[in-house]
Amino acid sequence: MKAVVCTKYGPPEVLQLTEVEKPEPKKGEVRIKIYATSVTASDCIVRGFNLPLWNPVGLMMGLVIGFGKPRNPLLGMILAGEVESTGSEVKRFKAGDHVYGTTVGSAIKMRFGTYAEYKCLPEDSIIDNKPINVSFEEAAAVPYGGLIALDFLKKGDIQNKQKVLIYGASGAIGTSAVQLARYYGAEVTGVCSTGNVDLVKSLGAKTVIDYTKEDHPPQGEYYDFIFDAVGRRKSSKLKEQCKKTLTPNGFYISVDDGSPRDTIENLRLLTELLEDEQLKPVIDRQYRLEQIVEAHRYVDQGHKKGNVVIIVG
Ligand SMILES: NC(=O)c1ccc[n+]([C@@H]2O[C@H](COP(=O)([O-])OP(=O)(O)OC[C@H]3O[C@@H](n4cnc5c(N)ncnc54)[C@H](OP(=O)(O)O)[C@@H]3O)[C@@H](O)[C@H]2O)c1
Repeated sequence: MKAVVCTKYGPPEVLQLTEVEKPEPKKGEVRIKIYATSVTASDCIVRGFNLPLWNPVGLMMGLVIGFGKPRNPLLGMILAGEVESTGSEVKRFKAGDHVYGTTVGSAIKMRFGTYAEYKCLPEDSIIDNKPINVSFEEAAAVPYGGLIALDFLKKGDIQNKQKVLIYGASGAIGTSAVQLARYYGAEVTGVCSTGNVDLVKSLGAKTVIDYTKEDHPPQGEYYDFIFDAVGRRKSSKLKEQCKKTLTPNGFYISVDDGSPRDTIENLRLLTELLEDEQLKPVIDRQYRLEQIVEAHRYVDQGHKKGNVVIIVG
């Protein structure tokens, strides 16, 4: 089968399209024919071995993915495709089912290998039936940002928060966070750069602050919950000022605070929201598997709008 291999860490050019053996499903596994995957910020971090080794999560990830060179040379953690065959004793899925999801559970359960035509996964992985009202490409734009955003919003008890500020509202995690916070009934303020203001408004943010123009939030504004969806490596004067606007019982969390935990329950909620059209997949660019180097170069810039999808096959 066609697959992209990464035999050493480095710039996007370390990725090479090649032929590898098609995997065989073992007992309890499904073999998925992948139609679409996505290039995530995490994929680029792994490819470049750009891990936050100063914190326990980064160190743990290093041990899991391998120091020196990738333990598993096949990268990619998101897939949307069709169950092509099943191993023995598989109950949840059958050949022909359209599915989507992630190969990752947490920093210590990192499985990769979706930059390929086929992937075998245990049937109890974080995969679900793809809603029929979204394409494979759209489905591949949901699990990464959706699952991470949902996990962090739940950590902050989003159900009981009224005014929420999403810093970095235009990336994969941010675009999901804005929509999910709206779903939970919050009044959302999004922070992004000028070119993304309309996008973030269209996702349901009541107010959008342009961090390239504003150094502080509007006078007198306070937030019950601030979710920093871009992480510690990227900041602005505005971000520092926003931290001062938390209500006394307010909650602040950064996407770099600990490791997100992807769960099947959260994926099922995303499925329902897609079906109800309460969650809109946001796709910036689409590339073919053959263009993976170009896709990584683009994602490396750190300014994608939502998701970059790879069409496989
Ligand atoms: N802790 C973990 O285990 C974990 C797991 C996954 C991801 N992460 C982190 O989460 C981060 C975001 O992931 P993602 O997939 O959403 O990234 P992404 O899709 O590449 O989006 C990044 C967004 O950051 C915005 N941005 C860049 N510089 C900014 C600044 N100074 N202030 C405000 N916004 C800024 C960009 O918006 P503009 O173009 O409008 O500037 C862009 O939309 C990644 O950097 C990754 O390190 C952490």
